[in-house]
Amino acid sequence: MKNNIFFSTILAVVFLLLPLSLSAMEYQHTLEVRDMQFSWTIEEDQIHVELSAKTTGWVGIGFDPEKAMSGANIIIGAVKNGKFKIEDHYADRKRGHSNDEKLGGKNDVLDPSGTEVDGVTTISFSLPLNTGDTYDKPINPEGTTRIMLAYGAGKDSFRNRHPYRTVYEINLSTGENKKIK
Ligand code: HEM
Repeated sequence: MKNNIFFSTILAVVFLLLPLSLSAMEYQHTLEVRDMQFSWTIEEDQIHVELSAKTTGWVGIGFDPEKAMSGANIIIGAVKNGKFKIEDHYADRKRGHSNDEKLGGKNDVLDPSGTEVDGVTTISFSLPLNTGDTYDKPINPEGTTRIMLAYGAGKDSFRNRHPYRTVYEINLSTGENKKIK
């Protein structure tokens, strides 16, 4: 009898802790910036990303911008009434971006998902490191990659500007990073 209680207790503890340890192990790297978090894992020819920010508007990441925002491959997402929307965009100008599909490219976002809880919007998705799309650029996991992070406020519209944006240089394999802007 005593043994049964002992083993049931052990089992209950394992099952309670398992989800915690799995979610903690989910991403290899995390970068915390003001009110915003970027977590990622490079796995074979893909990058798995989770982005979250203290906003009920959109959250976005841009890979490899050239002048201001232009040239960046942007993934932007928002959650409204429990439904998420995540799109593959390209910064076709210094201060804005367009949907790849509207420009003649394609949506390369894999396994999209999103939640909004207590004023925090979180999206996750995977992306091939080299999509082959004209409106994306290959991501080199070994060297440094320039990464823009930004979030919108209030409205979910992707046309809404950002109250916060930043640029980092990150080695996506090691997690080493430096704030640029
Ligand atoms: C339609 C939505 C957007 C609009 C209208 C917009 C507009 C602008 C404008 C006017 C600037 C110049 C002023 C400033 O520095 O704040 C700017 C800069 C910037 N934006 Fe956006 N933006 C949008 C979306 C995004 C997204 C989705 C990201 C990132 C994923 C982003 C990242 C940045 C960054 C990093 C800068 C600073 C660039 C630099 O100074 O080098 N923006 N944006």
